[in-house]
Amino acid sequence: MAILHLISPDTESTIRIGRILGSCLPRGTFVALEGTLGAGKTQFVKGIACGLDEGGWAGLRSPTFTLMLSYHGGRCVLHHVDFYRLNESPELPGEILEAINSDRAITVVEWADIWRDVWPKQVVRVCFEIDEDTSKRRISIEFPDQLCPTLSKELDDYVAQPAEA
Ligand SMILES: Nc1ncnc2c1ncn2[C@@H]1O[C@H](COP(=O)(O)OP(=O)(O)OP(=O)(O)O)[C@@H](O)[C@H]1O
Ligand SMILES: [Mg+2]
Repeated sequence: MAILHLISPDTESTIRIGRILGSCLPRGTFVALEGTLGAGKTQFVKGIACGLDEGGWAGLRSPTFTLMLSYHGGRCVLHHVDFYRLNESPELPGEILEAINSDRAITVVEWADIWRDVWPKQVVRVCFEIDEDTSKRRISIEFPDQLCPTLSKELDDYVAQPAEA
């Protein structure tokens, strides 16, 4: 596994980081997003959608109430899921389990840690933290090395120096 620690100074940077990740991800990837309310997870998914389809994020909304929204315009299907309201559910809806295990689509889940036992073996895990002093976001991306070999080079501009991490 590789792990990258990044600093995002503003919303646009978070979208740009998501877009770079989206452009490298192979189909069939499961992306787990973790981090508090308002940390930037939905903004990041806009970026991933843009990495799959340049204009694809224009209508992207938060799936908090619908649980899953799917986008078909890009180089592969993007399922955007939010586990937040599934906290108390005894089980996940079948269509969500299918999306998670799809080998064709990219499935991105906000609040993914709520249902960690449904994660597939291969996961790209992205954690968001808000720096209370600066309100910048600390974003860490953990991924299997062979999955996106060019990712760390492409994210060079955002990699945090050890003192900032
Ligand atoms: N560096 C940054 N990265 C991302 N968002 C930022 C940043 N700085 C400020 N923001 C603002 O923070 C908010 C992040 O909202 P977003 O909906 O992406 O959060 P979320 O993590 O999806 O929250 P929720 O858990 O409620 O779904 C937006 O209003 C965005 O403009
Ligand atoms: Mg959100």
